Amino acid sequence: MRIYLGSDHAGYAFKENLQKHLKGQGHSVVDLGAFNEDDVDYPDIAHEVTDKVVENPGAYGILICGTGIGMSMASNDNKRARAALCTDEHMAEMARKHNNANMLCMGARVIDSGLGIKIADKFLNTEFESHEERHVRRVNKIKRNV
Ligand code: RB5
Repeated sequence: MRIYLGSDHAGYAFKENLQKHLKGQGHSVVDLGAFNEDDVDYPDIAHEVTDKVVENPGAYGILICGTGIGMSMASNDNKRARAALCTDEHMAEMARKHNNANMLCMGARVIDSGLGIKIADKFLNTEFESHEERHVRRVNKIKRNV
C-alpha cells in the first residue's frame, strides 16, 4: 500500500516511529517531512501530503501534529480529502467503513505512538462499506460547492 506521511515538529518523533513500523509491514512509505524537530507550519505539510494522496488513487495519507486538529483542518481544505482525526482504533475503523477516509490524522501530544501504530494498522486494514448505499450517499454529500 502506498502511504504518504507527514508531521510538523510536534509530531516528528511519533512519525518516525510509525514510519519504521509501516515499512516493516511492507508498505511503500513516502515521507514528506518534517525531517527534524525544528519549527514548521503544519498547513504546509498537510497540503503537500494531501495533494499527493488525491493525485494517487488507492494511496492513503497519515498526518501528525500536536493535537491532529490543525492537520485535519488543513487537509480537508482539499475537496478530494476526507481527513479523519482519530484517537482510538474504533474511530479509525469507522472512518474507513462509514466515511471512506483517505487521510488519517493523529495528535502526538494526545496519544502515545504505540497506540498510534494500532490506529494506523486498523485504518489501513479496513475497507469502506461501499456496498451500503447509505454510506456512499452520505460520503457524496460531504463536500459542498459553496
Ligand atoms: C504546534 O505547537 C501545534 O500547534 C501543532 O502541532 C498542532 O497541534 C496544531 O493543530
